[in-house]
Amino acid sequence: MAPLDTSANRANLPMIGSVPQHTHDEINRQQFVSILRKHVMTEMAKDMRAAYDAVEEPAFKKAHGRAPKDAREVRAAMMHDAHFRAYSSIRYNAQEMTWMSVQDGVERALPELNEVAAAVAASPRNGGTLRLNPSLEIPKAVSSLDIHLMPGCFHTEYAKEDIAVAAVYDHGTRVFGAGLRTGRPKTKGGVADSVGNYLKLKYPTFKPKRILDLGTTTGSNLFPYLKVFPGIEAYGIDVGAPMLRYAHVRAEQMGEAVHFSQQNAEKTDFPDGYFDLIVSSFFLHEISVDSTRKIFKEAYRLLKPGGLMSHMELPPSNLCDPYYNFYLDWDAYYNNEPHYARFRAQDIIGLCAEAGFARNKCDQIRIPDRGVVSDEYFAAFARGEVEAPQHGNFASWFIFGALK
Ligand SMILES: C[S@@+](CC[C@H](N)C(=O)[O-])C[C@H]1O[C@@H](n2cnc3c(N)ncnc32)[C@H](O)[C@@H]1O
Repeated sequence: MAPLDTSANRANLPMIGSVPQHTHDEINRQQFVSILRKHVMTEMAKDMRAAYDAVEEPAFKKAHGRAPKDAREVRAAMMHDAHFRAYSSIRYNAQEMTWMSVQDGVERALPELNEVAAAVAASPRNGGTLRLNPSLEIPKAVSSLDIHLMPGCFHTEYAKEDIAVAAVYDHGTRVFGAGLRTGRPKTKGGVADSVGNYLKLKYPTFKPKRILDLGTTTGSNLFPYLKVFPGIEAYGIDVGAPMLRYAHVRAEQMGEAVHFSQQNAEKTDFPDGYFDLIVSSFFLHEISVDSTRKIFKEAYRLLKPGGLMSHMELPPSNLCDPYYNFYLDWDAYYNNEPHYARFRAQDIIGLCAEAGFARNKCDQIRIPDRGVVSDEYFAAFARGEVEAPQHGNFASWFIFGALK
């Protein structure tokens, strides 16, 4: 491959998310994995539930004189069930294949990817920044295993200024979600767009000037807030340098000013009361409860009075039935997410209160995805006129948090 002319107009550089160009065979492989994932997450999941209802739960009831009372008992009842075993082994393999299906392309394009990232980072144009801290200790929750079975996890660097794991994550998550998309439009919906718009409608006088996204990864669930709250000053932190490099390039190529820095969310270098809004998405279930406690205390310190903390997460187990808890906690056993079930077992409002937030200012709710309902419906929902979606509904998000 000819080296890129990075001295040329920066606009000539490819968008980072469009590198690599996957080959015909790679695209076919990716499509196969997306369809396999869809099959296991829908059809096989349904068959597994049917097997529980028809065989495993009645057998448990016969043996114990009652239904399983929690996820652990459902799991014990299901461990030898053929549907569960087939579901688990195919889902596990589909997860590994997700990353494998994009790795070849990323490896082939790595010099180009790293060059684009370096060229964009060398001439920032929008006022955004990237602060890396090579001496930051990577927390054990990240360094000790490959979360989601993704080789290299969020932090590994194979070369200087490397962004390989971020490219694998970006392309892999597209394969991961492709079969299960809800059919929502590209311009509307998804986590940050839904949560941001919900908060804006629910708190009409709340006009945040600065937002911080904890565990931002490649910024996907930070960028939409720039549209929801125009003019907001945006910050994203993460412990993984490759993710932050990638996020920075994305922001630059989108023409957005975002400040990314490599920091542990347990203890940041921002001053007290610096932020109006602190958010996270898909973050807390991957870290220990002890770490979450520290992060909530830090968020409390970082928020201005009247500021808002909002986390999109998996629903806590006390809001779901035993079977759904068993179903959700699958990732704790087979997807290298050991903190997942323990996080879900917490009293999350209690954790917010422990950090200093007043209990009567803490809240939790499941919100619809803004991409699958009308604007009128979404607004009525934010006004409390429409019931919350059921847990288990794919096109919705569970959020919780607190006002300071
Ligand atoms: C599943 S990802 C979050 C996904 C991302 N928020 C999104 O919505 O696309 C979890 C992220 O948290 C980061 N992380 C883990 N522990 C952290 C910590 N203590 N402080 C900051 N970031 C952390 C990981 O490096 C990883 O990028």
